[in-house]
Amino acid sequence: MRRLWIGIALLVVSAVGAGAQPGLVSYDAASKVFRLDGGNTSYVFGINSRGELQQIYWGGRLAATDKFPQPKPMREWASFDDSYTNTPQEYAGWGAGLYNEPALKVTFADGSRDLVLHDTGYADMTHGFDVLLKDIDRAVYVTLHYTMDPGSGILARSATIENREAQPITVEQAAAAAWTLPAGHYTLNYLTGRWAGEWTLNQEPVMPGARVIESRRGSTGHQANPWFAMQSGAADEEHGEVWFGALGWSGSWRITVEQDQLDAVRVTGGFNPFDFGYVLHSGERLETPVFYGGYSADGLGGASRRLHRFELEHILPRTPAKSGQAAALTPRVRPVIYNSWEATGFNVSEDGQMALAEKAAALGVDRFVMDDGWFGQRKDDHAGLGDWYVNPQKFPHGLKPLIDKVHALGMDFGLWVEPEMVNPDSDLYRKHPDWVLNFPGRPRTEQRNQLVLNLARPDVRAYVLGFLDKLLNENQIAFLKWDYNRNWSEPGWDQVPASEQKRVYVEYTRDLYSILAELRRRHPNVEIESCSGGGGRVDLGILRYVDEVWPSDNTDPFDRLTQQDGFTYAYTPQIMMAWVTDSPHRLNNRTNSLAYAMLSSMQGSLGIGANITAWTPEQTALAKRLIAAYHQVQSTIVQGDLYRLISPRNGSEFSATETVSPDKKQAVFFIFEHSTQEGRGFPLLKLQGLDPAAEYALTSIEGKARADTPAVASGDWWMNHGLQMDDGFRGDLQAAAFRLDKK
Ligand code: DGJ
Repeated sequence: MRRLWIGIALLVVSAVGAGAQPGLVSYDAASKVFRLDGGNTSYVFGINSRGELQQIYWGGRLAATDKFPQPKPMREWASFDDSYTNTPQEYAGWGAGLYNEPALKVTFADGSRDLVLHDTGYADMTHGFDVLLKDIDRAVYVTLHYTMDPGSGILARSATIENREAQPITVEQAAAAAWTLPAGHYTLNYLTGRWAGEWTLNQEPVMPGARVIESRRGSTGHQANPWFAMQSGAADEEHGEVWFGALGWSGSWRITVEQDQLDAVRVTGGFNPFDFGYVLHSGERLETPVFYGGYSADGLGGASRRLHRFELEHILPRTPAKSGQAAALTPRVRPVIYNSWEATGFNVSEDGQMALAEKAAALGVDRFVMDDGWFGQRKDDHAGLGDWYVNPQKFPHGLKPLIDKVHALGMDFGLWVEPEMVNPDSDLYRKHPDWVLNFPGRPRTEQRNQLVLNLARPDVRAYVLGFLDKLLNENQIAFLKWDYNRNWSEPGWDQVPASEQKRVYVEYTRDLYSILAELRRRHPNVEIESCSGGGGRVDLGILRYVDEVWPSDNTDPFDRLTQQDGFTYAYTPQIMMAWVTDSPHRLNNRTNSLAYAMLSSMQGSLGIGANITAWTPEQTALAKRLIAAYHQVQSTIVQGDLYRLISPRNGSEFSATETVSPDKKQAVFFIFEHSTQEGRGFPLLKLQGLDPAAEYALTSIEGKARADTPAVASGDWWMNHGLQMDDGFRGDLQAAAFRLDKK
């Protein structure tokens, strides 16, 4: 522990962790400046002459010898623009004269709402910095936490708010962090969507005023995702400066991007202040979520590559290493799964699942997952949620015969659950109608005929943990698909005093995390997928507890190209499950070849969700060949460095992605043609990220390059000369894939 009353000495400490350059934290007592360095990034802040914590620098890494003077508060610009508002504070309390977005807003028991946070002179340097602030008068303490990943330079920031007043306070707004960007012109990138239409990348100039992206829904949501990237000036996919961030929270959240009256640009994010009111009694604390932020000098592509590596190495859980094996630096690649949902809907049966399992095993699938319909009185979405016993009509001997069969076929077994929900038509709801989120005496709005169990209640939490633990104890289950098919309504919690009911926004999500953590502790080999009717719960909070996510219920392989493109700006392809399903696709009624669907899905973690019992021998053989080819290169695809060579966005005729293994020994690239127009062939494809001097051999996974393409050429050749597709690569929904292996 390196605790210090700051003001004593200059301290430089190597941070824990791996990376090309060591991560460093330092405090310069003379100038009162804190500094973190990691990867390509430096982050600097200090205590200004008023005692506020003021941001100084965030950007490309600086020399260790570079020094900063003590920061000075900004001056009053006009009588309307006071110094407190203009100063770029690390975590501004709403008080004094603050007109832009506060990090923290509270109401005291006597009605005062003035909060001005100053440094206390106390910090801890054990893991980065913990810096303690306090209101200038009242005993409200805030500890700001800073930890920088030495490899990626990604900084994790959060706050702990503590009430040491004798009376309670109500926290009405609490950010995890406020990020100040250098003065300049920016394009904001953010992700929005809807059910079956997630992961749209939006790009818009930052203008004066505030732009809010948020969820008020109780969970992360399809409609917006808690990620942003700010491109400066002329930055593009592979060039220029980008500042980016992602919030680790699966409840209601808000990110505010603000350009103030003096053109300063700030991004503030944390709990959504809408309907928020967290009462802190004397001695209680509130921990905010973590807001991660990073810097890239090589465009949006560089930003996402850093984020992917950070997620792989520092966020995602991993199943324990087998005895005698060293713990891996990254999680194991996802098993290729088969999932029954699109083939059977709710109509699951022992015979039907066994028939699908036999076909799946013959394809080379690793994991067989039975989806919705196996429990309670579940015939459709009107009944059964909450009653987690095996349906005796569908599975007269329980799940054991099916699981044994799946194991005998050489696969492991996974099961769908939706633990946080209940149908009013269920034994659970008849017994415990008070267990759902509700305002007593008011209607309970159903969505998909279901209500949300209030996980904030200790009895509900115990029930959910209990039935899942029992299910995993009694059956050999390797994987849970954890679904969540509606958002909140009437978020009441009448077991606690009226003034405290809004704590539900925090306690629900904390209990969700604690159930997941406890299940993983008790069943360390069980893997979990986060699904919320597709991609409604994907964020860096839930990703600490789950191994993969279901990005969308839209499995149309053409639509998926754009969705996957958007998804990978924020999240690694390792977690991006992608099933091959039947054509024509039920959503768009568009017809595609099986090869096209396979290649679209092979850009992420591959799964099969088609009715494979109806496949022809040719379809079976093709899928089997491509699954085998995928297994050989999967770790490069899902854990390599991703280059989005040609974006499918904005109605592009073409698209292409490439991933390069971290050691640059292998690259895999995918090429898609939507619809040839005016006879145009596929553009010359220049690869990226290879070792320029190394020789790479080209192998086709599917499709042909032009006949004069060399079998072996240098990294420079593939990157500068590029690859030309065969002239026959034309038509609608064409796809090809290749690998390059270093000689
Ligand atoms: C929504 C999921 O996204 C689907 O994959 C499927 O599991 C259904 N729920 C089952 O109800």
